[in-house]
Amino acid sequence: MRVLSGIQPTGRFHWGNYFGAIKQYIDLQDNDQAFYFIADLHALTTVRDAEQLRQNTIDAALDLLALGLDPKQATLFRQSDVPEVTSLTWILMTITQMSLLEKCHAYKDKKANGIAADAGLFTYPVLMAADILLYDSDLVPVGQDQVQHIEVTRDLAQRFNMLFGETLTLPNSRTLDTSAKVPGTDGRKMSKSYGNVIEIFETAKQQRKKVMSIKTDSAALEDPKDPDNCAVFALYQLFADETQQAELAARYRAGGMGYGEAKQAVHDAALEYFGEARERREQLAADLDTVHDILAEGARKAREKGKEVLERVQSACGLGTSH
Ligand code: TYM
Repeated sequence: MRVLSGIQPTGRFHWGNYFGAIKQYIDLQDNDQAFYFIADLHALTTVRDAEQLRQNTIDAALDLLALGLDPKQATLFRQSDVPEVTSLTWILMTITQMSLLEKCHAYKDKKANGIAADAGLFTYPVLMAADILLYDSDLVPVGQDQVQHIEVTRDLAQRFNMLFGETLTLPNSRTLDTSAKVPGTDGRKMSKSYGNVIEIFETAKQQRKKVMSIKTDSAALEDPKDPDNCAVFALYQLFADETQQAELAARYRAGGMGYGEAKQAVHDAALEYFGEARERREQLAADLDTVHDILAEGARKAREKGKEVLERVQSACGLGTSH
């Protein structure tokens, strides 16, 4: 079974990326066909500086490796190293209805905020469908915000198969109940575009400042508090075991504990949780040649599979010579 997912190198990864997606990548990597890639073609829709994009891509690889992605088990590659994906994108584009893309949230959100969208953003879900379909992917671990795009992918695969015969594999998304939508410091979904993220590897000092800034209600210290409606508690749950969660929930309900104390608990738990990864990242960053080698080897493997599927697709729809 093929497990596949991608992540954009638009900046440094945050807790939402980790608990929604990266943690799943690592949990599923012992599947012998796990493919994970850094979506630099997607990032081009927002990062318009060559050096920055290249740096972000290497940082993304370092982060993933430090967090436990094991290149001996999973294939890690850069999206743009497999140019077959853009050929498949075009082919899929010819069977994609505009109305389907108009419903997709990345574009809809921008439009609603009065921001002009370019064709790259509008057709972004088609490139994502190509990412998934090019490798015959069965399972796509993601956060809640990407589920819609996987539905689009299924629609496109079905439509292609209907028009040209059984060619493409229909994927399923996989989300975690507990962390499909991690809240940011303002309580909305943690997202770079909202400016509410807490990065995994920022310094302890910066991280503390952000944790302390998490928005809460104005309940006084002695008041009882509701753990189920509190971003601080929601974040604590990601790091703590069940006993610790139950203890903090009981203290919330009893009153007498301030949000400052709960925030400090989140900060301490996060430092502990990512402590080893922080150390590993420093070691890896001192050996960038190895990171480049891992990406090159990953691209080789991914491309082999991608070429096979693209040929199948071309042959089905009348491009190139038939096989
Ligand atoms: P991206 O780069 O925005 O996010 C990477 C992954 O992190 C998840 N995520 C979250 N999960 C829970 N709570 C949050 N607050 C949160 N914020 C982000 C996302 O759901 C995602 O799984 N289009 C994709 C990248 C992509 C892709 C693909 C994914 C390109 N091609 C093919 C899967 C398959 C994106 O922009 O994710």
